[in-house]
Amino acid sequence: MCGIIAYRGDGEKDANEVVLKGLKSLEYRGYDSWGVASRKDQKIKQIKNIGKIGHIELEQLGLAKSKTSIGHTRWATHGSVHKRNAHPHASSCGSVSVVHNGIIENFQELRAMLSEEGIEFSTDTDTEVIPHNIMHLMKGGDSFEEAFRKTLLSLRGSFAVVAIHSDHDVLLGARNGSPLVLGIGDNDHFLASDVPAFLEHTSKVTYLDDDDMVVISDSGHKVISLLDGKESIRDIHTVTWDVEQAKKGKYDHFMTKEIDEQKTTIKNAIEQDSELIDKCIEALNDANGVFFVGCGTSYHACVSASYQFSHIAKEHVNVVLASEFRNYEEFLNEKTLMVAVSQSGETADLLDAVKTAKRKGVKIMCIVNVMGSTLMRISDIAVLMNAGPEICVLSTKSYTSQLSILTLLAYGLADRLDEGRRLIMKVSDSVGSIIKKSEPIVSALAERFKTSSNMFLIGRDLAYPSALEGALKIKEVSYIHAEGFAGGELKHGTIALIEENVPVIVLSTDSTRELIVSNAMEIRSRGGYIIGIDSVPNPVFDTFIKIDSFGNADPIAMIIPIQLLSYHLAIQRGCDPDKPRNLAKSVTVK
Ligand code: F6R
Repeated sequence: MCGIIAYRGDGEKDANEVVLKGLKSLEYRGYDSWGVASRKDQKIKQIKNIGKIGHIELEQLGLAKSKTSIGHTRWATHGSVHKRNAHPHASSCGSVSVVHNGIIENFQELRAMLSEEGIEFSTDTDTEVIPHNIMHLMKGGDSFEEAFRKTLLSLRGSFAVVAIHSDHDVLLGARNGSPLVLGIGDNDHFLASDVPAFLEHTSKVTYLDDDDMVVISDSGHKVISLLDGKESIRDIHTVTWDVEQAKKGKYDHFMTKEIDEQKTTIKNAIEQDSELIDKCIEALNDANGVFFVGCGTSYHACVSASYQFSHIAKEHVNVVLASEFRNYEEFLNEKTLMVAVSQSGETADLLDAVKTAKRKGVKIMCIVNVMGSTLMRISDIAVLMNAGPEICVLSTKSYTSQLSILTLLAYGLADRLDEGRRLIMKVSDSVGSIIKKSEPIVSALAERFKTSSNMFLIGRDLAYPSALEGALKIKEVSYIHAEGFAGGELKHGTIALIEENVPVIVLSTDSTRELIVSNAMEIRSRGGYIIGIDSVPNPVFDTFIKIDSFGNADPIAMIIPIQLLSYHLAIQRGCDPDKPRNLAKSVTVK
């Protein structure tokens, strides 16, 4: 949530150009407003605006070439979507300029204290306390660096903050609870919420930890502790993602690009180091109590995997929404294993759940896409999804990668690893034909149902979590209300909403066909329009989408036509599929 990019160079590149480009690539983290602050000739000039930055050109910023610039794209928390609340925020004199991602829980207290000192606030944000407090401490004699460190130490909550000062030729950054990565170029440095923001300039990164502060000056960069100001030496890693992966290429939208990429990402997900898979299986075997935890789509992958662990490995696992995990604290001990599932590895609710588990000595295994993410670094065992950057706000390829890894682990636990691998490879090989065959059908469905107010999805057993995930995809990108149900549940109430021409997607598999078809008939006899996804046709289906049968790996395949349908509904309804309203990739607030 909220994207930060900051640059300090040697004057060769225009910092504003680097920051503007970086902001465009970070827009998936928030797009309520954006802003840039540029330092030149001991002055800072700020530009901000509401809405998306997408089509803004460098010339429109009206900023002179500079060597230091900071930028922000906002997902509003404190303060409405208004130009005055857009970042960067400045001290009253305009000398200090700050961008922030996260939430400052004690901002009211700090604001009251600063107001008593006569400082006037001009925004409704929590962030504004930071530049004012820095300036306040500097007036009391602190250096910029020390005032920044002390200010951040006084904050409660989560933050990634970057600051510049008109009179000081340094770039400062720090994090506690929100992501911030340091990019290291030949003669320049970057601070960003996410690697794609600077990937075209450098692949060398240092992942910052909580309570880390970075000082970037002419003598390079140093990492010091916010707590005591002591310097520490950090490893420099090379990112394996390449810059083309973070671009749209021939596609109109990242959403279709990422749906299409499932032709390779499913395979990449299961191409794991065999020692790592053995380690995961051993941890699952040794555990006394396993919790699968995630949010949103990642949670649906956990629900789906719980069925696979039951069917394939005959193992019971608990599945808990990360934001509800605290309620399970009583049942955790050193023998418990948590499997934390996340695309970004930065989701605040999930990190909070992991911290709760760690306090109880629980072992943490994570399945994560973003290398170097907080989740990866705080886990005992980390399995990377190898899906490449997922830029569209909706999770598509990361979901099927998560499912593939979890399915493989279920087979591994049952001592049938090779069988699992072969099955998942079969799905991977069929993705191209699933997309090709289903696209014209879902595009016609989108045209027909683009004005519907409700859609329902039903599935039993393994297909039930796919119904939940399918509903999430449809509603978040097309804004049509959609709900997923276990096939047997609709008649316990929601069937009241079925009337003439209400579209209902029926997810049918070899093992559930008889019962789910009966449920489909109950709906059809009340006027519902049945869209059947199955390996064989059925007279109850008004529209049929054929997906081959993959047994325990069915969920990996059957979500793909629904991802595509969601995309086409969004396009037909004039919605932006990559940046749906109110959403942000990487939800870093609780
Ligand atoms: C839905 C979606 C969200 C995320 C959720 C968790 O398309 O993207 O529901 O799945 O916010 O995010 P991660 O997986 O990054 O922890």
